Amino acid sequence: MKENELILILDFFGQYNQLIARRVRECNVYCEIVPYNISIEEIIKKNPKGIIFTGGPSSVYVENAKICDKKVFELGIPILGICYGMQLMTHVMGGKVTKASIREYGVLPIEINNKSLLFKNFKSRNDCLMSHTDFVSELPEGFEVIAKTETCPIAAMEDQKRKFYAIQFHPEVSDTINGLDIIKNFLFEICACTGDWKMSSFVEESIKTLKEKIGSKKALCALSGGVDSSVAAVLLHKAIGKNLTCIFVDHGFLRKNEGDEVEEIFKNQFDINLIRINAEERFLDKLKGIVDPEEKRKIIGEEFIRVFEEEAKKIGMVDFLVQGTIYPDIIESGLGNGSTIKSHHNVGGLPEHINFKEIIEPLRDLFKDEVRKTGVELAIPETLVYRQPFPGPGLAIRVIGEVTKHKLDILKEADIIFREEIRNAGLDKQINQYFVVLTNLKSVGVMGDDRTYDYTVALRAVITSDFMTAVPAQIPYEVLGRVSARIVNEVENINRVVYDITGKPPATIEWE
Ligand code: XMP
Repeated sequence: MKENELILILDFFGQYNQLIARRVRECNVYCEIVPYNISIEEIIKKNPKGIIFTGGPSSVYVENAKICDKKVFELGIPILGICYGMQLMTHVMGGKVTKASIREYGVLPIEINNKSLLFKNFKSRNDCLMSHTDFVSELPEGFEVIAKTETCPIAAMEDQKRKFYAIQFHPEVSDTINGLDIIKNFLFEICACTGDWKMSSFVEESIKTLKEKIGSKKALCALSGGVDSSVAAVLLHKAIGKNLTCIFVDHGFLRKNEGDEVEEIFKNQFDINLIRINAEERFLDKLKGIVDPEEKRKIIGEEFIRVFEEEAKKIGMVDFLVQGTIYPDIIESGLGNGSTIKSHHNVGGLPEHINFKEIIEPLRDLFKDEVRKTGVELAIPETLVYRQPFPGPGLAIRVIGEVTKHKLDILKEADIIFREEIRNAGLDKQINQYFVVLTNLKSVGVMGDDRTYDYTVALRAVITSDFMTAVPAQIPYEVLGRVSARIVNEVENINRVVYDITGKPPATIEWE
């Protein structure tokens, strides 16, 4: 990792914090989000080239306001404060923050002093997203105004000498025109970053660090067939070769042929030590009679760990356990926000009964798209790397009600037809997730001269950028027609196909 090319993002709980990190990394500069109350010693140790204060929901003047260590202003490191970050800078540096009578929200034209380095190459007016109630009413000493709106006289400020910059609006969102250029100006003009953070250097450096750390010791990795654990495993394999053992627990709920594909890639293409456990029967046994979605998820997660543990025991003591944790997992669990709508798990938490000394999470600093790029760098086939998201419990939560072998088999057949037709229609890059759900509903149909009484499947296809909200994809009728005709003709025990046209919210993407 580039030691002298780090931007630290101090997290004050703003809603766009991950986006700020994304933008910085888009500029090929490595950054980390850290809690706002990180100690000054930690900051010094990390030796950042610049610091960004994020937005946040609270006010600086209330009791117990979120204030970072004030010594951060004495380090000689450039700082960019965004929204709450600007107010915090003002408050600590001796200016004044006031509450406005009404909240200012929306994309507004802003008058800009483009002599400021922060707005280098900008025109004098720019549309920016404002979202605040508090505002800076008096500048701290040493600062100058570098932007204003009609209602906000200090929309941005700078202390050029100390390299402190602050903006009331949000450069990280796409509503702010040229917002990325503001971030670039901060990184390259003010912090003098070089922008040489690349996936290839990440791969090279990770392999080197892992080699040094693990040496000739042994590591164990649980493979689920998903992107994250696959990339983590290949990275480890490049570093330590045969000292890595992967245990692929095939719970039988992967899509058609996927288990074999995973085995083929790992065994034949990479020559990785792979133990595949075909545990379909065991999982189905555990799920007998279970209809509650949450219960299904829990059982599958736990069973996954049990199977993994049993296999691991046969290997005996290992030094390292590899996990495919990625950056959003860390941020989300760090903040612990929100209520549990569904208990998401890929490998269902941490095994308790395995003898290992340390956990290794080689992807813990990466966003999902960076994990995919790493996968491509490692020559993992794109069919695996660019797979659409797939839930850890797999098809078991796409069979509504009790899961049986028969139901799973017909779902697999229907699902592969849908995927084929979407790909043939050239829609696979436009639709972010598409799959078939086997509903528990049976209805009457007619096949030839015979009455049928069979299952209904639902097609689900959504457009989404973050999977937190989604809209149904507008698939042309002729494509839907083809899918429907093929499914009822080619798959036994399905006599009806419906298309789910619900958004998220109120529905979720998966049905369970
Ligand atoms: P929902 O159904 O909550 O799904 O709208 C949002 C996204 O998350 C995926 N998903 C999961 N992913 N483990 C995962 O790794 C899980 O248990 C899980 N459940 C849902 C879902 O496919 C969608 O992309």
